[in-house]
Amino acid sequence: MLRVDPVLFEQVLFNLIDNAAKYAPEDTTITIRGWKDGDAIMLSVADEGSGIPPNDLERIFDSFYRVRKGDHVRAGTGLGLSICRGFVEAMGGTITAANHHGGSGGLFTVRMPVPKNPPILGENE
Ligand SMILES: Nc1ncnc2c1ncn2[C@@H]1O[C@H](COP(=O)(O)OP(=O)(O)OP(=O)(O)O)[C@@H](O)[C@H]1O
Ligand SMILES: [Mg+2]
Repeated sequence: MLRVDPVLFEQVLFNLIDNAAKYAPEDTTITIRGWKDGDAIMLSVADEGSGIPPNDLERIFDSFYRVRKGDHVRAGTGLGLSICRGFVEAMGGTITAANHHGGSGGLFTVRMPVPKNPPILGENE
């Protein structure tokens, strides 16, 4: 069990899936994975687009930063990922960008630490 703000968490997922749908070609697959890694829950969104240039992997989380000139023909402001990072960090997690090992496509990973005293469903606070 994780303790997250559901509205913020949904917005994070929405922004990542919106990007995958926007920057990868039509009819390609978006893969969403979740797993446990030690004391954290991991969640990744991967696409089959052209990925992110290595020098931009950190900068894409800056406000208003867009990688390619051509990205400006697509609707957007360059705020989605900076909002994702702000929300994930506000909930105690981290978010990173990478490219698929040995293939094309972006890979975004959210890491949320599991609280030491996990919440119990139905318990009043
Ligand atoms: N899945 C992806 N594949 C390739 N490039 C990406 C991907 N996701 C983001 N980017 C690059 O990172 C930039 C920043 O993404 P971000 O979501 O912050 O802004 P946006 O999608 O341009 O606009 P907004 O999210 O505000 O509608 C994008 O403009 C694009 O250049
Ligand atoms: Mg976006």
